[in-house]
Amino acid sequence: MRLLEEKISADGKVLSDHVLKVDSFLNHQIDPQLMLEIGKEFARIFADDGITKIVTIESSGIAPAVMAGLYLNVPVIFARKRKSLTLVDDLLTASVHSFTKNETNEISVSNKYLNESDRVLIIDDFLANGEAALGLVKIVQQSGASVAGIGIVIEKSFQHGAQKLKDLGLRVESLARVASLSNGEVTFINENVEELI
Ligand code: G4P
Repeated sequence: MRLLEEKISADGKVLSDHVLKVDSFLNHQIDPQLMLEIGKEFARIFADDGITKIVTIESSGIAPAVMAGLYLNVPVIFARKRKSLTLVDDLLTASVHSFTKNETNEISVSNKYLNESDRVLIIDDFLANGEAALGLVKIVQQSGASVAGIGIVIEKSFQHGAQKLKDLGLRVESLARVASLSNGEVTFINENVEELI
């Protein structure tokens, strides 16, 4: 998605060979107009997949997921990383280990909002090692619903998450695919090479 790549190039900060800081439009301050375009693009990609629900994870997945839900006209559920005071019964849970943060969270969703007839689009802001996405897949599968695909805003293609998910037969659609963060520069995998010619 060209608009997103331009935004990353203009406003993203490369913190190291592995970490891209995008808190001016995605992870802290949020650019609503960009989120709207991101939601529209996810809706276009998954328009014919019979999506009935979107599942994401707090906190940074929520903004793009809500915009996709707006365009697909379906509800959006976000997995919680901490136990909620009111969300106590019949939880679907999965354990998610973050290699980036070196911590493990038990994520949870109430089974009230997912059932066998649902066809779910999973959305997240970043795809690195794929642990969060895998946790969400496990939760959806526990409910008996099916996973139509995984929509990612920024995929770090030099890490193994996308391949891990694809090897499990899951469809992964990433709006920006970062090939490298070496030398303080963001390089994208550009599938439309002919556009450059
Ligand atoms: P994984 O789920 O793909 O295995 O990713 P990982 O454990 O490495 O990521 C843990 C957290 O760090 C996630 O956010 C993820 O979005 C974020 N993250 C991973 N790589 C980057 C990066 O290069 N840049 C930025 N900005 N974030 C990255 P989180 O802890 O769930 O945070 P939030 O959603 O509450 O903001």
